[in-house]
Amino acid sequence: MEEMDFENRIVSTEFTQADSDIENSLRPKELTEYIGQEKIKENLSVYIQAARARGEALDHVLLYGPPGLGKTTLAGIIANEMGVNIRITSGPAIEKQGDLAALLTNLQEGDVLFIDEIHRLNRSVEEVLYPAMEDRALDIIIGKGPSARSIRLDLPNFTLVGATTRAGQLSAPLRDRFGVILRLELYTDEELSSIVHRSAGILGIDINSEDAMQIASRSRGTPRIANRLLKRSRDFAEVKYNGIITKEASEDALNRMEIDNLGLDSIDRRLLTTMIKNYNGGPVGLETISAAIGEEAVTIEDVYEPYLMQIGFLSRTPRGRCVTPAAYRHLGIEQDGQQSLL
Ligand code: ADE
Repeated sequence: MEEMDFENRIVSTEFTQADSDIENSLRPKELTEYIGQEKIKENLSVYIQAARARGEALDHVLLYGPPGLGKTTLAGIIANEMGVNIRITSGPAIEKQGDLAALLTNLQEGDVLFIDEIHRLNRSVEEVLYPAMEDRALDIIIGKGPSARSIRLDLPNFTLVGATTRAGQLSAPLRDRFGVILRLELYTDEELSSIVHRSAGILGIDINSEDAMQIASRSRGTPRIANRLLKRSRDFAEVKYNGIITKEASEDALNRMEIDNLGLDSIDRRLLTTMIKNYNGGPVGLETISAAIGEEAVTIEDVYEPYLMQIGFLSRTPRGRCVTPAAYRHLGIEQDGQQSLL
């Protein structure tokens, strides 16, 4: 069985450091440049126009959906279209109440505070956020014991943009304080292909429609993966194929990265084959799958399952997860467990 940890997956939806600089140059800055997520764009543009016309900060926005779909990009676009600054942080980075207080008191009127992985804020930090979101106020306790007293500081108007992989992971009091809640969907192959063309243009890469579509169709609905596959295909093209991304070059790149024609990598295939071989294709519980393949249950739920369910390879039933006949066919395994001769 191949060893490949989550961070090193070519189809990982996590940022890598090398990715992040280039990715910033690929991020659209305006809603009109942003491809896909049509419903979200339409609604957001109304809310932005209305808030601007009233001269107010935009209401707090919660973005949720699988990783790599453009939540940070959207937060940047919101700030840009509102004509304000953005401060970017994440749930795990804010350890103490004082960390959040420092962030909040440094905001200027109208600024966007973006908190990625907002479901990972700890309870005591979350409690500072409630009055900040609701009343633009910061309650600070000064002193200890009987002489302790609480003072209230006014904050500037600001917009909190929170991002999470699942809205259900958020505590109800926090979720209720967002005025706008938007769910990002996986992208279609056509949308991803447009994104590949756009990115290729920015990076100065020559690519034709067929090859852009090939990369798109193996990117599991996720722009971050499409952009990464584009860059790795360029590497192969430059070193082995005279610099032009031909069908042969991108196919070679994708095959060497062990990404099959549906965008599944070795971990996806291991997940499905383990369920088939050890549990007869299910139903099998999430925790059992997690223990069998050595990946955390939340990672399986947030990263692997959305795409496997979207392409109809996995179903969730009350008794557990099941591998579908389509997945058996794709893997070349017959449903009684016999390896197909194909
Ligand atoms: N790059 C990454 N995501 C994008 C999107 N949705 N539109 C355009 N370019 C992108």
